[in-house]
Amino acid sequence: MKGVILAGGLATRLYPLTFATNKHLLPVYDKPMIFYPIQTLVRAGITEVLVVVSGPHAGHFIQVLKNGKEFGLKHMEFAYQENPKGGIADALSLAEDFADGKPITVILGDNTTDADISKPVKEFKKGALIFLKKVPDPKRFGVPRFDKKDKTKIIEIIEKPKNPPSDYAVTGLYIYDNQVFDFIKKCDPNFAGRGELEITQVNNFYLKKNELNWTELNGYWLDAGTFDTLLLANIYWAKKRGFKNPSNF
Ligand code: G1P
Repeated sequence: MKGVILAGGLATRLYPLTFATNKHLLPVYDKPMIFYPIQTLVRAGITEVLVVVSGPHAGHFIQVLKNGKEFGLKHMEFAYQENPKGGIADALSLAEDFADGKPITVILGDNTTDADISKPVKEFKKGALIFLKKVPDPKRFGVPRFDKKDKTKIIEIIEKPKNPPSDYAVTGLYIYDNQVFDFIKKCDPNFAGRGELEITQVNNFYLKKNELNWTELNGYWLDAGTFDTLLLANIYWAKKRGFKNPSNF
């Protein structure tokens, strides 16, 4: 399967850190953030990757990632999203030719995880598969509402709900079949009031067709898109690599 990394946007939530470079190139311990989603795809056996970039610092990516060989990729290409505020689904629409009619694994460039997704990637057949994770702050995410009787059945996904209907976040990892590109064409920028084409609306289209499956993401997962989660991601990966605080503060 091919993989797509969505690394666009202006990351205004991280100003002033993102005045001079792109969020996905900021450090997470000893690596630029985007290395983590690349490694997640490589661990899942994916060797062909499209990176969608946007914004004033889009050119920085090629200096950092080069041709992707260092990561074990056979092929890496870039696409440029013209409107950095277009949203995740708009960025994904640029992957249509790259996907070439086949399924794709999609990951957001600020999602760091040590979960192994190679099995679901290998076994994927059709529809969509989303990965859920229990979080303390679901309001920040897309959140599934489960059926009252069948507690494993998602009946709706709400983007950044004021009153989250569950403790689960829809993580920024998805596997889609080729229908995704038709669903994106039907997306409405007012779906969640952000003026963006929302991946949550795409997931709801799959849900309506009864073709949305989910699984829980096993392992650590964080999106490093805020000051606090960026710090936590740094701490997690530093500790995982054996860092111990010598000053003990
Ligand atoms: C995006 C998605 C949201 C998802 C999150 C995961 O949020 O819109 O559904 O839960 O990524 O990282 P955003 O980063 O655009 O606020």
